[in-house]
Amino acid sequence: MRPISRRRALQLGGVGLAATVLGGCAPPTPGRLRFDPTVGEALTEPPVLRSSSGVLQVRLEATEARVPLAGGDATTLAFNGGLPGPTLHVQPGDRLEIDLVNRLAEPTNLHVHGLHVSPQGNGDNTFVVVEPGATFGYEHQLPADHPPGVYWYHPHHHGLVADQIFGGLYGAILVGDPTPVPVTRERLLVVSDISLDDDGQVLPPSPMAQMMGREGELVLVNGQATPSMQAASGERERWRIINACTARYLRLRLDGQQLQLLGVDSGRSVTPQDVDELVLATGNRADLLVTTVAGTSELRTLPYDRGGMGMMTGMPGMRDGTPGPGVGEPLALATLEVTGSPAPPLAPVPTRPSPRDLRTETVTARRELTFAMGMGGPGGMSFTIDGKQFDPDRIDQTVRPGAVEEWTLVNTSPMDHPMHLHVWPMQLLDTAETPTWRDVVDIPARSTVRVRIAFDDYTGRTVYHCHILDHEDRGMMGVLNTA
Ligand code: C2O
Ligand code: CU
Ligand code: CU
Repeated sequence: MRPISRRRALQLGGVGLAATVLGGCAPPTPGRLRFDPTVGEALTEPPVLRSSSGVLQVRLEATEARVPLAGGDATTLAFNGGLPGPTLHVQPGDRLEIDLVNRLAEPTNLHVHGLHVSPQGNGDNTFVVVEPGATFGYEHQLPADHPPGVYWYHPHHHGLVADQIFGGLYGAILVGDPTPVPVTRERLLVVSDISLDDDGQVLPPSPMAQMMGREGELVLVNGQATPSMQAASGERERWRIINACTARYLRLRLDGQQLQLLGVDSGRSVTPQDVDELVLATGNRADLLVTTVAGTSELRTLPYDRGGMGMMTGMPGMRDGTPGPGVGEPLALATLEVTGSPAPPLAPVPTRPSPRDLRTETVTARRELTFAMGMGGPGGMSFTIDGKQFDPDRIDQTVRPGAVEEWTLVNTSPMDHPMHLHVWPMQLLDTAETPTWRDVVDIPARSTVRVRIAFDDYTGRTVYHCHILDHEDRGMMGVLNTA
């Protein structure tokens, strides 16, 4: 009896020790956490770096970092230790110089999403590879008439884009407005998503999640879980919102407040447009006016059905009609508490000049691009444009400088693909009278969207791709050469 019980006690002790090491039944120790999506601390914003005398010089270090996140500590990727990285504030006509320092264990690079700048050399060149330990000096000369608005930066090394953005590498770029809008406050809201394990390590996606486009369990605003904002009633705030999620579409509401849209991406409206709801595909940004009304409102993202595996039958674990992600409950992203007596009214919002309208211009070339999913490829599913996967050494489209082209974007798959072109914005056709410009255009499942593009100002090689970054990494990207 005695030896047995002694051995048993030792075994139990051993099990107990193993459990503590693995974190199985050990009580949560300080510094470790159960990540809490409802934390509610006051919203903070990343540090702002502003240009002076026409130049902004910055050093961005991509590192692994221990960051406070959702009530605990997480090990993520970060630019200059922060998630998001610093906000780069420039003016039209400025030169933006970025030294990218790669302190990761894998290659990376940097793309300035939405900026109308040269794709060549050390410009917005996504073919540049910055190896671990290396530094690369980017230089972007913004044209004097660069559209004001909210843009962003993120890595673009093919194959690692989704992992690096999901891991925490992104930041905002603001291009100043020559006609300022009178507001009581400006806010930046960088929305991103991430999944963490109990130790605060970033969780890798399942192969299925990668095919759908991964959606993180935590949706963050400026790296915070459901932060809170305060305002007095009757104020006019200007919110710049970036959808920096890897695949998730945001369908935003702020019920109880008055919302007016100034623009999406580099597209501007002539006068502010009243909206109740706002859909931002991954990569899209919004420039929004919020006129505050007393009470507490929640900024929420509602379920958005961006399709599923649909007809992809015969795959293990997939059947016809498998619902896609984003089908579920609304998620609270932040709260806005409005109290106090009404603020004095502000001067009206100035009218903006009407944007260029390519519908009245002569089209010099037309092309059709087909976004498709098929069997084969890594993980059993391929993502293609015109039947081909990305090849950096192949040129898929050759465009004449100065051309005005009409592109018909065909999506034959059962899933939405938000199409993004670097350097040049796209004008949506088939819309209302006001010209609508975007640099990420959603192509809903099994449908067709037409856009026009004016290939002005620059020549060189660049890319277009699906901004569901798991799809891009799996090959849904093509090379365009303007020459
Ligand atoms: Cu936001 Cu090609 O990227
Ligand atoms: Cu881009
Ligand atoms: Cu896609």
